[in-house]
Amino acid sequence: MAFRIAQISDTHLSAAHPEFSVNFEVLAAHLRATRPDLVIHTGDVSAHGETGPEDLRYARGRMDGLGLDWLAVPGNHDVGNDPALGGATAADATRLAHWREAFGPDRFLRDVPGWRLIGLDTLIMATDLPEAAAQFDVLEAALATAGGRSIALFQHKPLCEERMDETALTYWPVLPAPRRRMLELLARHPVAFVASGHVHQARDRGVSEGIRQIWAPAVAFLVGDTWQRRIGDKTPGYVEHALHADGRFESRVIHPEGLVPHDIGLLPEIYGPQQPVAA
Ligand SMILES: [Fe+2]
Ligand SMILES: [Fe+2]
Repeated sequence: MAFRIAQISDTHLSAAHPEFSVNFEVLAAHLRATRPDLVIHTGDVSAHGETGPEDLRYARGRMDGLGLDWLAVPGNHDVGNDPALGGATAADATRLAHWREAFGPDRFLRDVPGWRLIGLDTLIMATDLPEAAAQFDVLEAALATAGGRSIALFQHKPLCEERMDETALTYWPVLPAPRRRMLELLARHPVAFVASGHVHQARDRGVSEGIRQIWAPAVAFLVGDTWQRRIGDKTPGYVEHALHADGRFESRVIHPEGLVPHDIGLLPEIYGPQQPVAA
């Protein structure tokens, strides 16, 4: 029997946005019916957790309402974004404390038959918070002590958009400096896959530059092609990872019936007007 993980992402929950809560409940009903062994949320659990703790508390309540075993790591809308990107809500100690009050730790380690699952907070990696250095130490130790288990990483931001050596500081992937540090560790301790969210597009490029990167689609909304380049499948859904004790695994995107593909570009009252992408 494979160990089945439902990787859900980008639920953007808030009492102020009932349309996203409806999508969450559609997904929740599907998960209660299919009963994965574990639900892993790869961030942007809340809609506006970076501006105050209310949405984080609301999102925590919804996750508990699943009635399933679950783990979560934060996204930029939960703890703020990479400070180097220059936005108004940079990840900092206060925002991290709000996450911890609502959800507990911002990373996790869980061993299941044949596998070690490691959840990382990709938003603090490029900060000078002591938790950033501590997390790299914990990651290195977790990789080094896996003892023959296959390893899967779960994080909000993908390692890269197209190539591991891209140098631009952009909104979507892990920034180049922490990416290099992660790649040094992963070169010594290969992982089976890196599962991420954030882009609101599903994508599985197979093994690229030595690492299998699996992107989960969002649950709450997509970003229409006017405002975001299409590089994957924007249909709302989640990813099921079936992990076998011998290290084999299958990952597939599932689209539960009833998820509404809201386009955030047409809902400017939620995150403001989106900027059109260059043609
Ligand atoms: Fe998101
Ligand atoms: Fe995000």
